[in-house]
Amino acid sequence: MNELKQAEIDRLVLAAIEARDQAYAPHSHFYVGAALLMGDGKIVGGCNVENASYSLTICAERVAASAAVSQGYRTWRAVAIASIGGAMPCGACRQFLAEFGMDITVITIDVIDNQRQIRKLSQLLPDAFDSSDIHSHG
Ligand code: THU
Repeated sequence: MNELKQAEIDRLVLAAIEARDQAYAPHSHFYVGAALLMGDGKIVGGCNVENASYSLTICAERVAASAAVSQGYRTWRAVAIASIGGAMPCGACRQFLAEFGMDITVITIDVIDNQRQIRKLSQLLPDAFDSSDIHSHG
């Protein structure tokens, strides 16, 4: 069971908003922060990092997940994503996060009105491609 307490949600949301302060988005001016909540309570954040060669841009969620893996984590309980409008994670980020567990809570936050939406990753990426697809034909 992976029920989040309200205090954990609040802490994670705050971390995503803070992570957004570091966003490097001179091209789109769309600033995104993401924060992951680990099983031990630690929070790891990330922001989007854009590039003049646009396709090299990395989304906040993938930066946060990569930072967490670099710090020795392979699973987490939840991700909070902060942006103007409270955008849902893009398809690439859904797939990237799915690698590390489908049963996580995804919280989006509109930084303008603090409106939050809560989903499960399994809702956002049903029938995900995963390692079982690779291994079934080898
Ligand atoms: N972006 C994210 O950081 N996360 C998403 O899930 C969607 C898009 C960023 C990438 C780019 O820097 C900007 O938002 C506009 O697409």
